[in-house]
Amino acid sequence: MVVVLLGPPGVGKGTQAVRLAVAMGAAHVSTGDLLRAARREGTALGRAAQGFMDRGELVPDDLILDLVREHLDGVDHDTDVLFDGFPRTEDQATSLDQALAKLDRSVDLVVLFEADDDVLVRRLSGRRSCPNCGSVYNVFFNAPAEDGVCDRCAGELVHRKDDDPETVGRRLQVYMDETAPLIAFYEDHDAPLRRIEADRDVDEIYREFEAAVRAEGQA
Ligand code: AP5
Repeated sequence: MVVVLLGPPGVGKGTQAVRLAVAMGAAHVSTGDLLRAARREGTALGRAAQGFMDRGELVPDDLILDLVREHLDGVDHDTDVLFDGFPRTEDQATSLDQALAKLDRSVDLVVLFEADDDVLVRRLSGRRSCPNCGSVYNVFFNAPAEDGVCDRCAGELVHRKDDDPETVGRRLQVYMDETAPLIAFYEDHDAPLRRIEADRDVDEIYREFEAAVRAEGQA
């Protein structure tokens, strides 16, 4: 199966994708995580993406598409894939369809996570991430046992620079302008689009998300 997780910054796409990927043995492809890894490694892509990310703007499509193609080459064709934060523009969505068609695959399900902006702003202001293992916490909703230390790998937790209030405002606007139009794109697509109310308990959301994905897998 190929599942696209769509939704604004901070809505919980990464939180849900990581959990379902472990449960299903699926590949979790987060373009945000891949870009942050490229930045840490100091690659040409990481350097090119840096300014866009820090300003809360989208990284140009050509860079993103090269990154995804390269990553997909390493994924076995029978492996389920959860795309998190990709596609984010209509060009990316069209290119994804074309790339999957070459592999005799297609997007099977799109899950749109929805929550109001005030919820997203609070979540992003409280987010702390582990650059070492990718675990995500929240000082308001899901704090680590020891302040600033990852429960899983003992790495030092960081507050993402693009989670600063001014940049969050820009990211929400960019989502509305450039990514929200994908909702209409996917409403017209062969793959069903399933909406999930994301201002709820993480476990409750997960149960609904997992059930939707498994049901589509059996359809
Ligand atoms: P990216 O990393 O993809 O950021 P994003 O889409 O803005 O998403 P986030 O990671 O902020 O949020 P999320 O929905 O995953 O929420 P999370 O689960 O962490 O992209 C970063 C940047 O990279 C972009 O701005 C852009 O520059 C670039 N980029 C990436 N992909 C690109 C693309 N395809 N094209 C162009 N540019 C691209 O949860 C957030 C917080 O809330 C956490 O603290 C979590 O613990 C908490 N939380 C989650 N669920 C709940 C819940 N139910 N209740 C309470 N708290 C919760």
